[in-house]
Amino acid sequence: MSFLSATLDRVKPSPTIAVTTLANELKAAGKDVIGLGAGEPDFDTPENIKAAAKAAIDAGKTKYTAPDGIPELKKAICEKFKRDNGLDYTPAQVSVGTGGKQILYNALMATLNPGDEVVIPAPYWVSYPDMVLLAGGEPVIAEAGADTAYKLTPEALEAAITPKTKWFIFNSPSNPTGAAYSRAELKALTDVLMKHPHVWVMSDDMYEHLVYDDFEFCTPAEVEPGLYERTLTCNGVSKAYAMTGWRIGYAAGPQPLIAAMRKIQSQSTSNPCSVSQWAAVEALNGTQEFIPANNEVFKRRRDMVVEMLNAAEGITCPTPEGAFYVYPSIEGCIGKTSAGGALIENDEVFAKALLEETGVAVVFGAAFGLSPCFRVSYATSDENLKKACERIQQFCASLS
Ligand SMILES: Cc1ncc(COP(=O)(O)O)c(C=O)c1O
Repeated sequence: MSFLSATLDRVKPSPTIAVTTLANELKAAGKDVIGLGAGEPDFDTPENIKAAAKAAIDAGKTKYTAPDGIPELKKAICEKFKRDNGLDYTPAQVSVGTGGKQILYNALMATLNPGDEVVIPAPYWVSYPDMVLLAGGEPVIAEAGADTAYKLTPEALEAAITPKTKWFIFNSPSNPTGAAYSRAELKALTDVLMKHPHVWVMSDDMYEHLVYDDFEFCTPAEVEPGLYERTLTCNGVSKAYAMTGWRIGYAAGPQPLIAAMRKIQSQSTSNPCSVSQWAAVEALNGTQEFIPANNEVFKRRRDMVVEMLNAAEGITCPTPEGAFYVYPSIEGCIGKTSAGGALIENDEVFAKALLEETGVAVVFGAAFGLSPCFRVSYATSDENLKKACERIQQFCASLS
C-alpha cells in the first residue's frame, strides 16, 4: 500500500511550473532564454502599498489576526464591491485568504462531495480541474474554442449541466486566453443558470481591472441579481496591484458558505499574512492611478504581440479584451517538421521545439484544456516581447 494519499493520484503537477523549470534549466546551462510563461505583472508593487506594509510592521501589526481577515480589510473589500461592481456585501459575507488560489480551494473543499460535478469552460486556468479533483469532485469540461472567441456559449453551458452539477466556474477576463465577456454575453449565460437553481456560480474576477479599449467589466451577481444568493464573487490584489508575492485574495458570498470556508482556513493556514492584509487595505482604499497607467503599457504590448504573431506562418492570434495573455492557434503548423527535426504533432511538441531551438518559453495549450494552441504572457518588457515574437516568426518560417 502506498504511503501517499490516493487523492494525489487524481491530480497532476502544474504544467506551467514544468515549463518554467525547463526554461530555468536551459538558462542555467547558459542558453539565451526568453520566458513568456509567467502569470504575473513585471511591474513593482506601488510605493504607497509598500509604505503601508512598512508602517504595519513598525506599528507591531505582526500577530495572528482573525482567521479570514482583519475588519479593516473586510470593510475595504465591501466598499470595493459596492464601488466597482454595485454589489452589497456585509463584512460577515467576506473571506480573505492567502491568495485567490486559497479562496477558490477553500470554497471547493467546503462544498464538494464525491461525485459532485463542477462545470469548467476550456481553455481554463490550470488549477481549476485539479483543485476540484483534490476536493473530491468531478470536473466537467465545456469547450469554448476559437470559433466563439474562447467564450462559452449558452448552449454549451446548458449541455454541461446535469443534476449533479454543484458549481459553474466563470473566469473573465480569462487566464489563459484574455477573453472577457460583455454584459450581453454574460447575461446569456446567467439566463441559463437561472433555469438551474441547484447550480452555484464561482466567479473568478482576478483580472477585473486589466481590460483594454474601453471594455466594461461585469460579474455574474451584478448582471443577474437573481444569482446573488448562489454566487461566490472571488477577486484579489495579486494581478492589478502587482502583488503576487504578498498572497492576498478574497471573496464575498452567502454567509453560510463564507462560514464554512472560514472553518477550513482556521484548521489549515489560519489568517493570511497580517502585514500583507494591511498592504491590501491600502491597495483597495488608496490611489488607483497606476492601474490605467499600467494598462496603457499592457495594451501596447498586446497589440504588438497580436500583430507579430499573426504575421507568423501557420499562427492565428485573436485580440483578447483583457488580462495579459494571448492564446494563438498553431493549427497551420501541425504536421510540419522543425529545422531541429521535431515533427509538430501537437502543441506540446511545438512548445518544446520552440524552447529548445529558439529559447522562447511558452506554455502549450493542452495544459489549459484546448489545443492546438499556446499561451503567451505579455507581462514582460517590450524588448523581450519583440525579440521573442521575431524568433517565433523565424521558427514558423523554418517549418517544412
Ligand atoms: C484566473 C486566476 N485565478 C486565480 C489566480 C490565483 O491568484 P493568486 O496569486 O492571488 O493566488 C490566478 C493566478 O495566476 C489566476 O490566473
